[in-house]
Amino acid sequence: MISVENLSKLFETHSKRDPVEALRVVNFRVKRGEFISIIGPSGCGKTTLLNLIAGFIRPEQGSVRFNGVPVSGPGPDRIMVFQEGNLFEWKTVRSNIEFGLKAKNLNIKKQKKISAEMVRLVGLNGFEDSYPSQLSTGMKKRVALARALAVDPDCVLMDEPLAGLDQMIKERLQLEIMHLWKLTRKTILFVTHDIEEAVFMAQRVFVMSPVPGKIRGKVEVDIAYPRKIEVKAGRYLEERKREVWELLRPGGPDYA
Ligand SMILES: Nc1ncnc2c1ncn2[C@@H]1O[C@H](COP(=O)(O)OP(=O)(O)O)[C@@H](O)[C@H]1O
Ligand SMILES: [Mg+2]
Repeated sequence: MISVENLSKLFETHSKRDPVEALRVVNFRVKRGEFISIIGPSGCGKTTLLNLIAGFIRPEQGSVRFNGVPVSGPGPDRIMVFQEGNLFEWKTVRSNIEFGLKAKNLNIKKQKKISAEMVRLVGLNGFEDSYPSQLSTGMKKRVALARALAVDPDCVLMDEPLAGLDQMIKERLQLEIMHLWKLTRKTILFVTHDIEEAVFMAQRVFVMSPVPGKIRGKVEVDIAYPRKIEVKAGRYLEERKREVWELLRPGGPDYA
């Protein structure tokens, strides 16, 4: 479904310094319905990579193909969920969720039907008319997920959606996101800098090098879903974490 070929991205810095090379020759493929985590040190180009796939920015070299078609701009088939959630504070839960549907030219009745479904899906029944400021952090994340899923994209791009949350909320949302993935069969690219989170959630983990970002290696996590929290304490996950850690280590291997 996603094919990233020889992707490179430079940013001009508006000074006399050389441009920043954010990504250098990144290659990978993702199949329809896969759950992929992308992990790498801060500033290695993870957000840049998602922005390129989302079509928000253009590469200097290489290409992103989505369903066989070169990406030339944003589209409702690829939706981004930002760390901050980016909810509209002045809109209710319901109208936040319906926001993305406006572009789809659906009639009001259809919009209401979809937003009601999404509210149920993420367990926010009874909060349809609340404003984001009236919700807990976890509930806000659920609204952001519901808004993304409402437009029925093929792929959801998640940029560190759980960073900075406390452990209990984080674990609960990890389970919920995996559950939503199973239920909706979306393709998920999940960016995180948490090794345990990366291996616990994904079928495959792409490990990036420090900037300029490259894919240093890929780690498969062969555990059936639904995955329980207890898996985190098991030896198998421990070994996968170790593999990821070895790839992340300064001076670790480089391969394209
Ligand atoms: N719009 C921009 N202009 C200039 N430099 C940028 C811009 N966006 C990102 N960068 C630089 O590109 C590199 C990768 O950034 P980013 O993709 O945000 O990393 P990550 O998400 O992995 O933390 C960093 O060195 C960052 O400073
Ligand atoms: Mg980032």
